[in-house]
Amino acid sequence: MLLEARRISKQYRSDSTAVTALHPTSLRIDNGEFVAILGPSGSGKSTLMSILGLLDRPSSGEFFIDGRDSATLSDDQAAGLRNRLIGFVFQSYHLLPRQSILHNVELPLLYSGVGRAERRERATQALTAVKLPHRIDHLPSQLSGGEQQRAAIARAIVTKPAIILADEPTGALDSATGWEILQLLIALNRVGRTIVLVTHDVDIAHQASRIISIRDGTIVSDQSAAAARAAAAAAETMEQCDAAA
Ligand SMILES: Nc1ncnc2c1ncn2[C@@H]1O[C@H](COP(=O)(O)OP(=O)(O)OP(=O)(O)O)[C@@H](O)[C@H]1O
Ligand SMILES: [Mg+2]
Repeated sequence: MLLEARRISKQYRSDSTAVTALHPTSLRIDNGEFVAILGPSGSGKSTLMSILGLLDRPSSGEFFIDGRDSATLSDDQAAGLRNRLIGFVFQSYHLLPRQSILHNVELPLLYSGVGRAERRERATQALTAVKLPHRIDHLPSQLSGGEQQRAAIARAIVTKPAIILADEPTGALDSATGWEILQLLIALNRVGRTIVLVTHDVDIAHQASRIISIRDGTIVSDQSAAAARAAAAAAETMEQCDAAA
């Protein structure tokens, strides 16, 4: 089991108030899966993704990644594991604005101590894989949104991570460009990467093979995309029957 959460919850505390973003939640994600986490704004998707990606720790419950109990990891160990196992993609790309695209993509390799020549070669390969080899000397601001997201995906895959966590990766893009980015994630899944895709968009979620739906910090369903499609079709038929009756 690659990722396993056992009754994890998350409360955010400020001075006087506490917000429960995630109620006790259990889930398992296997190697090679393509999972969508689907839910409306504020439902706890990013909170859940942050815990799955070792960016944050649960308030209670247990989280295992690649067989390791996250509670036993120091912050440095968690950062090391994160850098080795996980590639992140965000809605707003998170590219460093004053660094060239090539340098942005090389950065995770720099953190893991890879030498200059190999960094350059692997970053160039990753940029070729996302079909962006001609833009490597540009600054992020000189690229379109779709190109910046391609660069961000190149940065996410340059360390060859087992898992790619993508939080609304198409959220800032028009639908055609968003679709291209989605095809890229599908292709990465076909070559063995585990993909966890956070979205509020049902059509996008249906491109995954499994859909976990979340509302108000609780998982309300967890099913294959085919089962989700069948359930949606049945609900529509019921509505039509009700309307006709
Ligand atoms: N750092 C924080 N401090 C306090 N409350 C937070 C914090 N982060 C998130 N929350 C709250 O937790 C709940 C879940 O937030 P989360 O960001 O996980 O939702 P989301 O499903 O990702 O929403 P969106 O689709 O808008 O990105 C929300 O009510 C939010 O206001
Ligand atoms: Mg979010």
